Amino acid sequence: MSKKNIMLLFGGESSEHEVSLSSAKNVCTAIDSEKYKIDLCYIDRSGKWWLVPEVSKKDIDNNGRMLVPILGTGEFMIHPRGELIKPDVIFPVLHGRNGEDGTVQGLTQLLHVPIVGCDVTSSGIAMNKLACKGLLSANGVDIIPYRAHYDYQDTPDYDELAKELGHTLFVKPARAGSSVGVSKVTSKEQLEHALDEAHLHDSIALIEKAIIGKELEVAVLGTPPNHRTSGVGQIVPGDDFYSYDDKYADSSTAQVKLSADIMDDDRLRIKKSAEKVFEVLGGSGLSRIDYILSDDGSLYLMEVNTLPGFTNISMYPKLWQKEGVNYDELIDSLINEALIK
Ligand SMILES: Nc1ncnc2c1ncn2[C@@H]1O[C@H](COP(=O)(O)OP(=O)(O)O)[C@@H](O)[C@H]1O
Ligand SMILES: [Mg+2]
Repeated sequence: MSKKNIMLLFGGESSEHEVSLSSAKNVCTAIDSEKYKIDLCYIDRSGKWWLVPEVSKKDIDNNGRMLVPILGTGEFMIHPRGELIKPDVIFPVLHGRNGEDGTVQGLTQLLHVPIVGCDVTSSGIAMNKLACKGLLSANGVDIIPYRAHYDYQDTPDYDELAKELGHTLFVKPARAGSSVGVSKVTSKEQLEHALDEAHLHDSIALIEKAIIGKELEVAVLGTPPNHRTSGVGQIVPGDDFYSYDDKYADSSTAQVKLSADIMDDDRLRIKKSAEKVFEVLGGSGLSRIDYILSDDGSLYLMEVNTLPGFTNISMYPKLWQKEGVNYDELIDSLINEALIK
């Protein structure tokens, strides 16, 4: 049997460029080179696509080989040499804007190449926390109470917000990730500053009630009706909340527990909810779905990540490992899932 061609996309224009590189190194190592031929495509911070020999953040000089998609043909032209390459499947190891948000998924759809993971619409909705809340709450999923804030609006009155949502609030961009632009707020001054910070990343921000409880994550693999959920993991932040540094800095003291410290019926409730969330979204392939189980027993959806991290510390592959699906098998199954689409 001839080898299938996999094109790995990594880097990207979002604030999670570095995270993508760490993820891609692992995914690349895990792809079975007996079964697959791998083409590596580095997307630089300005959005240019380069065919590169290894997963690393090389400065691309003017002699680099750029990839130009030829829509409708399944092929990329290597510029300037003019050769063609035709991947059987594209694996986007990208996070955030222009990667996880439906844009790359739309491009590959027009190119006529199957892509690992969710499609245009499910990616776009999951990436937009405002749209995601709307769709999921309309379908009976409990979401964290919130208000939307647009960058052309005045700062809302903190005391009024506090009456509605409580004195501690979380402010975040609607479309970002890795806790970039997320702040915890307990005063009028902080609210103003937090909204400015969130709007650096998005014209739409969310102001949420702060939920005190356990942060829980569950992995989904497969495509409805044949999707399954992993066990429930837990994040114990080392910081005031699970901030960017708490996620990625060497000095982080955050703990990742592969088996959450919760009752079995809550575990079941979360798995059932995650299955439903994935179905309602129209997800395919994979997602990591994050919740907060509040100390009063209420379960709230926090967010859906359609392209979760694959770094050394990432929960998604670890949760599957715990279920007996090792890293290589996981990557293989994601590729196969895309190939049969
Ligand atoms: N409403 C909230 N209540 C409590 N903690 C929150 C809330 N919103 C966000 N957080 C904290 O901030 C982190 C990042 O928020 P999240 O919505 O997951 O954004 P991102 O997509 O950037 O990961 C969460 O992991 C959690 O620690
Ligand atoms: Mg998150």
